[in-house]
Amino acid sequence: MNKIVIAIDGFSSTGKSTVAKQLAKALNYIYVDTGAMYRAVTYFALENNLIDKDFFHSEKLIERLSDINITFKFNEKLGFAEVYLNGKNIEKAIRTLEVSRFVSPIATISEVRQKLVEQQQLMGKDKGIVMDGRDIGTVVFPDAELKIFMTASAETRAIRRYRELLERGHNLSYDEVLENVTTRDRIDSTREDSPLIKAKDAIEIDNSDLTIEVQLDTLLKLAKAMT
Ligand code: C5P
Repeated sequence: MNKIVIAIDGFSSTGKSTVAKQLAKALNYIYVDTGAMYRAVTYFALENNLIDKDFFHSEKLIERLSDINITFKFNEKLGFAEVYLNGKNIEKAIRTLEVSRFVSPIATISEVRQKLVEQQQLMGKDKGIVMDGRDIGTVVFPDAELKIFMTASAETRAIRRYRELLERGHNLSYDEVLENVTTRDRIDSTREDSPLIKAKDAIEIDNSDLTIEVQLDTLLKLAKAMT
């Protein structure tokens, strides 16, 4: 069967990565979480004091971009690839509210995007990939054979994210999570470079009331029709 590129874009916490991971597994494709790459750069900026309080030093971060090496390594037990920064596993460390607060401002920096987009295009050059993010169908793989745009109401997304963070042991309020999700969406969809928009040829799926099984089944049917 022909291998294709599957681009899944959408707002924060639409459950893109959960279904994308399962889709990749079912098709025996590589799965790439590009949000983890922007989070890795943000984690690097925080660790290297390139962010003071609410201000980030974009020039200093741009100067240090060549010191950032992001890789993925498949974890057999978890069944997906975890993200590494300069050889260190940071999969858990990038999921904090602190990283979430700064990631969207960092993702507006064109030099950061250029570096990550180049790496993402290399990862998908042999196809057989499911990639999720905000600009995959519009910028990274404008020729992707299958493009999905996932949506869900802001409240549905905040509840999902809130439950996920609670399960991971984070102690925060629902309102903090809702505020983070809506702020990130606003920054992501209004930035100048590669704003989050639905590609003209993307298929929109509102998954507010859809189970994972139904979403996976729908995507598998769409993918099979393209191969
Ligand atoms: O997918 P996730 O919510 O982990 O992404 C974190 C942030 O990374 C997004 O809010 C967005 O600012 C940025 N991002 C992006 N382009 C992508 C993937 C993520 O700008 N392709």
